[in-house]
Amino acid sequence: MKNKLQKLRDEFLHQLAEAKDEMRLRELELRFFSRKGELSSLLRGLKDLSADSRQAVGALANSLKDELQEKFQEALRSFGAPRAASGTTDVTLPGRPLPQGHLHPITLVQNELEDLFASLGFMILDGPELESDYFNFTALNIPPAHPARDMQDTFYIDKKNEAGEYDLLMRTQTSPVQIRAMQKYGAPLKAIIPGRCFRNEATDARHEHTFYQVEGLLVGKGINFANLKSFLEIVGRELFGPETKLRMRPKFFPFVEPGNNGEYTCFLCQGKGCRVCKNSGWLEIVGAGLVHPSVLRAGGIDPEVYSGLAFGFGLTRLAMLKYGINDVRLFQGGDLKFLEQF
Ligand code: FA5
Repeated sequence: MKNKLQKLRDEFLHQLAEAKDEMRLRELELRFFSRKGELSSLLRGLKDLSADSRQAVGALANSLKDELQEKFQEALRSFGAPRAASGTTDVTLPGRPLPQGHLHPITLVQNELEDLFASLGFMILDGPELESDYFNFTALNIPPAHPARDMQDTFYIDKKNEAGEYDLLMRTQTSPVQIRAMQKYGAPLKAIIPGRCFRNEATDARHEHTFYQVEGLLVGKGINFANLKSFLEIVGRELFGPETKLRMRPKFFPFVEPGNNGEYTCFLCQGKGCRVCKNSGWLEIVGAGLVHPSVLRAGGIDPEVYSGLAFGFGLTRLAMLKYGINDVRLFQGGDLKFLEQF
């Protein structure tokens, strides 16, 4: 038996040295290590030996088996084949694909708007979400105790300033960045400001406590209402298609004069009336107007020389309309079944 094992070892090592490619190695594997291979047959013969010699020859046979398999794996590795599972890492295996993330639907609509306005020469600006009472309200022509403050309740920060007032709050709108932009860049000025806003709302399908807006501001000489109208028309056609019409209806915002609500023909029914537009044929998308002289002054711009237009889109609402989403709370609910659709 010992002789047979020795012969098998010699033969195996000879063949291994001769093997020139992986295919030849696989043939050897089959010939020696498979269930009906030469080594396995020899090992099966152990059971016919006497108990004493079975122990001695068995130990020899097992160490021979380990030796041959190690030499075989070594040869296999030298041909670049994967290692057998032995706790080592096979760096030649292809990587496992990782699931890819994707953009949130609000980011998709924001990117589309940013591309559009950048192509019209607008800067894209940012502003603080934690804002002062002054920028969020007072500088926008909403002084303390003005009834318009009731339209936008928010979350106040529990910290008083030196004058003993609570003057820090989560901004209710992107409009305070109008003032910051005017103070920083002066006139003329073309900017949009996408960003997150907060309101103390009793939330429902159309109202969230946290949502997104895109503010637009254009300041220059001789900017008038006709500019605002044609400008909003361009935006509507770009967002909802070339047939889109604009309807402007008066609306009070303290920081514009005159102020209006911009409505576009419903992109779903083309103005015929449907569920999305509540059968009116129009979708209320944007608040807009000519910048109030007091606001220009707060921004350090002389209203006798310059005028401006401003508008504010509800970005979250835009995303709802674009993707037919019927509950605003889905955007921040973290439900992957919802998010994975985009
Ligand atoms: C404003 O916030 C004005 N700053 C817009 C503006 C800018 C007017 C510049 C004139 C000139 P309003 O409160 O209507 O306006 O909000 C604008 C949009 O934000 C709404 O049409 C709506 O789409 C969105 N919005 C407001 N509150 C919420 C809310 N709780 N959840 C989701 N979207 C909201």
